[in-house]
Amino acid sequence: MIRRNRILRNTPAIRAMVAETILTPNDFIAPLFITEGKGVKEEISSMPGYFRHSLDGTVQEVKELWAMGIKSVLLFIKCADELKDNKGTEALNPDGLMQRAIKAVKDAVPGMVVMTDVALDPFSSYGHDGIVEGEEIVNDATVEVLAQMSVSHAQAGADIIAPSDMMDGRILAIREALEENNFTKTGIMAYSAKYASCFYGPFRDALDSAPGFGDKKTYQMDFANAREALRETLMDVDEGADIVMVKPAMAYLDIIRLIKDSVTLPVSAYHVSGEYAMIKAAAKMGWINEEKAIIESLTSIKRAGADLIATYFAKDAVRLLNQ
Ligand code: PBG
Repeated sequence: MIRRNRILRNTPAIRAMVAETILTPNDFIAPLFITEGKGVKEEISSMPGYFRHSLDGTVQEVKELWAMGIKSVLLFIKCADELKDNKGTEALNPDGLMQRAIKAVKDAVPGMVVMTDVALDPFSSYGHDGIVEGEEIVNDATVEVLAQMSVSHAQAGADIIAPSDMMDGRILAIREALEENNFTKTGIMAYSAKYASCFYGPFRDALDSAPGFGDKKTYQMDFANAREALRETLMDVDEGADIVMVKPAMAYLDIIRLIKDSVTLPVSAYHVSGEYAMIKAAAKMGWINEEKAIIESLTSIKRAGADLIATYFAKDAVRLLNQ
């Protein structure tokens, strides 16, 4: 033999020296679920160890994340039922929970990169990402509201708008609205290849945002398709996105790689709620080692090409990397 591949695997030191993929705290975006009230901390039943916090707890959490070296949070709010409608009224409220949360987080930790979810589902009486007419999720009227919502988030101090709705043309509309309102420093992280996935189930528990009728297959992508993901992503690049995203992550590593090789923008991947729940559940049963599963999963997502990973394991991962 002229080559023995095991030489480079012999000891922990040599393995560390030749490791191609190294996770760092800079890789992670920590999603946060925010609810009204004071001192509220509610565990999400299908996401053990993950919580909805009121604003005070959210600020504490953000300080902790920052101290650990995590640079970005992605905010989601749980909207009260009585404020939901079919127009996204509450999404545009300058004193809405999202807008207050953005301000509170930026005031507490100005350096933290605050990303905000833009879609109507948490605010929708139908639990859909857009305005509903009959059985249809209407595109263009929704895009108008999403653009206004983005401006409202920018006004509150958001650094990066993250539209997760999958309407056509929304990136251009948001970019134009930001420009018109002079928000020339606000970025857009486009959920470009977002699939209609069963892995969002626990998230919909967290925000009480499950669709009231039907599913999201007329706007989110069919998981059978890869070329379509590229088309969606290239359009978002042309429309002015700063970062493009693939979602979910682990069942879509091929898509992450395809997009990484096809665009020059940073690529993010969303390791979603169901992926978190699967690891938690198997670990609870004693069937896998949770800590090892976390690091292996996140490393595989980065190896596939993700420059950024939104993950509910952000804190755990940093803690494990520091050990
Ligand atoms: C809503 C939104 C969803 C997620 C992020 N933004 C759910 C959905 O599209 O139904 C899912 C995140 C997760 O499962 O962790 N537009």
